[in-house]
Amino acid sequence: MATPDGRPFVVLGVSGGIAAYKAVELCRRLVDAGCHVAPVLTEHATRFVGELTFSALASEPAQTELYDAAAVIPHTRLGQSADLVIVAPATAHLLARYAAGMADDLLTATLLATRAPVLVAPAMHTEMWEQPSVVDNLALLRRRGVEIVEPAVGRLAGGDEGAGRLADPATIAEAALDLLGRRPADLAGRRVVISAGGTREPIDPVRFLTNRSSGKQGHALAAAAADRGASVVLVTTSALPAHAGVRTISVETAAQMHEAMTEAAQDADVVIMAAAVADFRPRDPESTKVKRELGAPEIILEPTPDILVDLVERRPAGQVVVGFAAETDHVLEHAAAKLERKGCDLLVVNDVSAPLVGFDHDTNAVHILSQDGTTVSVDLASKRAVADRILDRVMDHLNPSAEKDSR
Ligand code: CTP
Repeated sequence: MATPDGRPFVVLGVSGGIAAYKAVELCRRLVDAGCHVAPVLTEHATRFVGELTFSALASEPAQTELYDAAAVIPHTRLGQSADLVIVAPATAHLLARYAAGMADDLLTATLLATRAPVLVAPAMHTEMWEQPSVVDNLALLRRRGVEIVEPAVGRLAGGDEGAGRLADPATIAEAALDLLGRRPADLAGRRVVISAGGTREPIDPVRFLTNRSSGKQGHALAAAAADRGASVVLVTTSALPAHAGVRTISVETAAQMHEAMTEAAQDADVVIMAAAVADFRPRDPESTKVKRELGAPEIILEPTPDILVDLVERRPAGQVVVGFAAETDHVLEHAAAKLERKGCDLLVVNDVSAPLVGFDHDTNAVHILSQDGTTVSVDLASKRAVADRILDRVMDHLNPSAEKDSR
């Protein structure tokens, strides 16, 4: 329920972990983005950050008590008023209480009393993050429709390193604004063409050569671009459902993708080659099934066309072209060489040997290299959040003067 002046009502729950201090920045970002923020701290959270800090920055005083003489039933007021409930950081204990449907403090009672979307950003030590009980609680919450902003890998309390560090406040704020439908329609009127998935190159009618790409990052990019107002064409080998409003062209081979992309890119403002295109294909695919009795066949390969290079060569003035690279070693070095070789404006590279990154995961972590020499790194986040960060860079290239002004 928005406030009378139209601002979305956001309950910001903070549970007791060292990362609670980062919720202060999240609070400020949400207020700056035009949200009415009502902070709710667990008792343990108050050991890490002061109520006063939140009260000073938020839209109303921070609350901690289920039983408050001044506001008789705060849990239902907050839960019913909320357009979104965020918990950041969410400790293992908070996740367990929420998953079990407990309501023994104001934050869990609010979570139980709301019908609004809920976004949780877990933060804890790696050992806790990897505990089967925590993994199960999170999977249960995800199945119930709770949005999760995955933690990043990095420095933890006490100097330890590993997975479990609270995601960047900026990433959490972006996910929150997405759920509130408050992303700017900054791609309105723009045509965006995206390729996704791994191509399949036939050996015979039943067998093919392919790779491990799932198409999830390309589909997330299509969804994000459509939500930001673009008219989107998605050329994909993947059977993943397409986001409403995205025009999907299904292809299988590099040759089919080449044709569809060349056609669609002609009048596009932005072209993103997120697909993993086979570099080689069988030169003479068999028209009938190759039989086992004939022994191991010799398959002669030939190179496929480099679609990205071809799109760069043909591109109309002003079109922004984005390439992808999946690397396993010397990631930034290989990426810089690839950016140069392919000639695209931006190159998004991920280290597919890192945990939870790349193929088939719902999360990704990337570096976005630009021809202007700058590199933006995006920590582990959902593929949707990564998509938005990539589109933010695309926006900088579509409006280079705006970028200069904002520096
Ligand atoms: N690409 C393409 N056509 C190809 C191969 C790749 O358009 N035949 C595009 C991919 O969609 C991606 C970028 O080129 O955007 C980089 O792909 P990648 O396979 O990493 O590059 P390669 O040039 O094949 O280099 P490598 O030797 O690392 O495989």
